Amino acid sequence: MISDLKNPEQIEKVISNINAAVTNMRLYSTKHPKINRYLEDAYGELYRLFLDKSLTTIMLIDDQMVVDNVPLKNRGSRGDQFARILKENAIEHITFKSGVSKQDFYFLVKQLANPEGETIKSSEYLKLGKVELRVDEKTVTQEDITLSDDEKEHLLALRSVRDDKLGEIRIMCSQISERKSIDIQAVDELIKAFIRGFSYGINPIHMLAKLKSVDEYTFTHVVNVCILTMSQAESLGFKGEQLYEIGIAAVLHDSGKLFIPDEILNKPGRLTDNERSIIETHTVKGAQYILGLKNISKLAVLGALEHHIKYDGTGYPNISKKWKPNIVSQMIAIADVFDAMRSRRVYKDAKPVSLIVKILTQEKGTSFNPLLVDNFLKLLNEK
Ligand SMILES: [Fe+2]
Ligand SMILES: [Fe+2]
Repeated sequence: MISDLKNPEQIEKVISNINAAVTNMRLYSTKHPKINRYLEDAYGELYRLFLDKSLTTIMLIDDQMVVDNVPLKNRGSRGDQFARILKENAIEHITFKSGVSKQDFYFLVKQLANPEGETIKSSEYLKLGKVELRVDEKTVTQEDITLSDDEKEHLLALRSVRDDKLGEIRIMCSQISERKSIDIQAVDELIKAFIRGFSYGINPIHMLAKLKSVDEYTFTHVVNVCILTMSQAESLGFKGEQLYEIGIAAVLHDSGKLFIPDEILNKPGRLTDNERSIIETHTVKGAQYILGLKNISKLAVLGALEHHIKYDGTGYPNISKKWKPNIVSQMIAIADVFDAMRSRRVYKDAKPVSLIVKILTQEKGTSFNPLLVDNFLKLLNEK
């Protein structure tokens, strides 16, 4: 994992001054003279931190505070207090970008002090990851499913590996967006755990990531597409190294989206033709990006390029009607549409599984490979 936290004490000073400002704002008023000093100190330290880097991210993974990929150890009460403030505001992570104005920074701290107030929004130089939406697990299970104790135990173990690794995948996504080289090993353990899960015969639907947050849709989506693609591949007989490479291809299928501006990607409501064509470039951009990575199989390049090409040759990118997407890209296409439809977003509700099944069935032979759809539906109906 790439670390670029050179001086942890700098960010610790920022955190402790934010804590002090928040405490005093809650005790007195936001106009108290002491508060201004804490804010000045916090902002000054942040400013110095940006002399040799362009952004810094503080995130909470379980109760662990992680700054720029490095867990802050021995953070003591000041770290605990900051973790509490973030939790009260339902914030999972904050990214400060170089260029953040004093005014924006002060405004953020004031809002942190008042979790009951207006919801805090991300801005150009301040990105917040908020826990906002949860997909009810009931929407993904057909009926009450009875599992044996043994199966329950395996499922719990897998879910905990999955939750553990979500943080690393999030870091991987932010590394892609910063054009850093990525460490694919970060997803290694997750993919291996999924492979173990399939060997226990667990329905992939039970392993899907449940947590959804508005600006983190992309990363929970890639985890789910990975699970749903690998389970299809496994059921078709792919094993070992090949299955592993299919997992990597699925994780990277939407990496091109990280080059698309957030305003377009997360725009609620209808997209203009121009915005739609910008989003569609994520396929080619992703393929180009993956081509530049070391030690990645060409399967991942194809997965990124082809996952929106339909079975009948329509879709995008418009390469040639005779172009036949790789079988793995065809599996990713089904997983992709399934996860997109079952996820609740700010601007649309999740579709019930019964409706998704109907849509997939209707589009057999036009959008999707009919044999792969049959196989996928069979998987969904398993225990
Ligand atoms: Fe996509
Ligand atoms: Fe996707």
